[in-house]
Amino acid sequence: MDNTELDRIAELREQLHKHNYNYYVKNNPEISDFEFDTLLKELQSLEAKHPEVFDPTSPTQRVGSDLSEGFTQEVHEYPMLSLANSYSMEDLREFDSRVRKAVGDREFSYTCELKYDGLSISLQYKDGKLTRALTRGDGIQGDNITNNAKTIGTIPLQLQGNFPKELEIRGEVVMPRAGFDALNEERIEQGEQPFANPRNAASGSLKLQNSREVARRPLQANMYYIPSEAPTDSHYENLSYARSWGFNVPDLSEKCKTIDDVYTFITKWDTKRKDLPFDTDGVVIKVDSVSLQQELGMTAKTPRWAIAFKFKAEQARTKLLSVDFQVGRQGTVTPVANLEPVQLAGTVIKRASLYNADQMQVLGIRLNDYVYIEKGGEIIPKVVRIDEDARDADSQPLHFITHCPECGAELIRMEDEANYYCPNSKNCPPQIKGKIEHFVGRDAMNIALAGATIEQLYNVGLIQNASDFYSLQYDDVIKLDRFAEKSSRNLIDSIQESKSIPFYKVLYAIGIRHIGKANAKVLAKKFKSIEAIQNATLEELQDTEDVGEVIAVSIKQFFQDDDNVAFIQKLRDNGVQLEEKEKQEAQSNVLEGKSIVISGTFQKHSRDEMKELIEANGGKNVSGVSKSTNYLLAGEGIGPSKLEKATTFGVQIITEEDFYAMIGMSEPIQSAPKAPNSGEQLSLF
Ligand code: IVH
Repeated sequence: MDNTELDRIAELREQLHKHNYNYYVKNNPEISDFEFDTLLKELQSLEAKHPEVFDPTSPTQRVGSDLSEGFTQEVHEYPMLSLANSYSMEDLREFDSRVRKAVGDREFSYTCELKYDGLSISLQYKDGKLTRALTRGDGIQGDNITNNAKTIGTIPLQLQGNFPKELEIRGEVVMPRAGFDALNEERIEQGEQPFANPRNAASGSLKLQNSREVARRPLQANMYYIPSEAPTDSHYENLSYARSWGFNVPDLSEKCKTIDDVYTFITKWDTKRKDLPFDTDGVVIKVDSVSLQQELGMTAKTPRWAIAFKFKAEQARTKLLSVDFQVGRQGTVTPVANLEPVQLAGTVIKRASLYNADQMQVLGIRLNDYVYIEKGGEIIPKVVRIDEDARDADSQPLHFITHCPECGAELIRMEDEANYYCPNSKNCPPQIKGKIEHFVGRDAMNIALAGATIEQLYNVGLIQNASDFYSLQYDDVIKLDRFAEKSSRNLIDSIQESKSIPFYKVLYAIGIRHIGKANAKVLAKKFKSIEAIQNATLEELQDTEDVGEVIAVSIKQFFQDDDNVAFIQKLRDNGVQLEEKEKQEAQSNVLEGKSIVISGTFQKHSRDEMKELIEANGGKNVSGVSKSTNYLLAGEGIGPSKLEKATTFGVQIITEEDFYAMIGMSEPIQSAPKAPNSGEQLSLF
């Protein structure tokens, strides 16, 4: 046996655990993403050579796997209790006097923590290694989701420091709002239903059967409780210990002597919580002493030593006037409530989402009902509750429509899906117009057209599908309302220019169901032409990064339809790019070995194009500024935290113009961007 390789495996595992901790928990990476990946790859290949030293907690196990597995139910070693809720100072005083009665005149304090809004998880460690992760389930037994938990960067697979031999620790898996927004944007783009809020997104993600997919979800674990034997009698101290073992314990809690101090903490965080990167829905107040906790014990379901104080979500009450059913470009029917206008968190709300048929049924909503609406991390406000006491005695239940409100086709609902679809994709006007709108979009063919103009072109019969743009003549356009010579010329020019849009954007523009920007890019890179994609087998398609069965089947189905094939042919006949062209941009190695973070927006190129330019010139685009970043490429509206980090680490800040000069491109910039000149450090204050 080759001992040097085994030693190297052990060494790499240790190093990678540490780098992972620095990156995810401490937010302070010491090496670049590239260096991390290199070490990880080395470990992967050594482990493949030495299956005899397989370790389920090796850093290589974080990437997840495509094997879909049902979860087994397992019994919790310590039952997972829930907490009693309180909503007012009065409730808190009652809790406090119950505690004081039991404690007598002994001194004690409370620990106040934020109540993270996600999904609870219980982790078990033996000899410092993660052995099991369970969801709460019914509190007695939960789902074994160990493989999913391993993909979460803030969950240590191997503990550090002076950890107990056996440990059970609990926390909340949350999805920070920034990651949630990005995930939803991607889902909308791919024609999938966005998640209603970060909590649903976190819980939906953790329960996915495919851990490789979980690894892509931006999840974070915030730890808050140790039910097993811990080092001290103070809960607060024990959590500090947990921090030293490598756990992510948000440093937001405070010890309070009196219930008035507790209330001050609550009032402070009721406002300040909006600045946190993740959602919280209250404060948890815990008697700090572990021995007192044991003495106080529990009721049937909840401990007597802790209570949750729930923040009031901002809500407004208003009347439901009617329900619209909107048909999206992929045919999804979404119910939207029209409301009597009402003020909520600074804006006037007239419409709110009812999500889908399931949700309407759960709410039991009726016309003229008084409803409560809430704004969360959601895109539009949602109806959360009905004021049933205020309901008209003769009101009738509202039913989901059975036929498309736009084209009259009978709606269908796939098994296991919450949405109804209009299947008449070829003749249903909003689907046709939606596809055209998608085609001309900025990230697609970038044709300068407003939604109202598309409506006009469609209504007068000039455009039936997006390929008709290419037969559009100046003489047709100038005859239309609101079109003058200049605007007609601009439209025709913009259509002509779209013929040089690169293939991967065209592939996205075509609007094959489930193909988002990212999928289009990898497919274009791999297959190089639309013909190759059309002729690829299901297996070949599925063998593409991030392309699963759903996408592969959707591509096959698209090309089985003669109208779609004719549509592509018309694009081809008109000179639209249906294959990859060699890159025209400057290609060099001038950025070899340089890692560059980009932030803000740029005048000459989109952020994606800037990334491509970095890579085309041998550099590496990384997302976070660290000690090993070489340049921060600063655009307009650059993120202040990136600037601050760059200043701290002494990373050189360069402008868009500096960047073009570095790669030998002459791209004149008209007005100077707000970023500083090359090499200069920015003063932040
Ligand atoms: S302590 C026995 N602390 O709130 C004590 N819970 O109903 C157990 N939660 O399901 C809970 N943040 O998932 C505790 N800082 C925090 C928490 C917290 C969120 C969740 C937890 C539990 C629910 C309470």
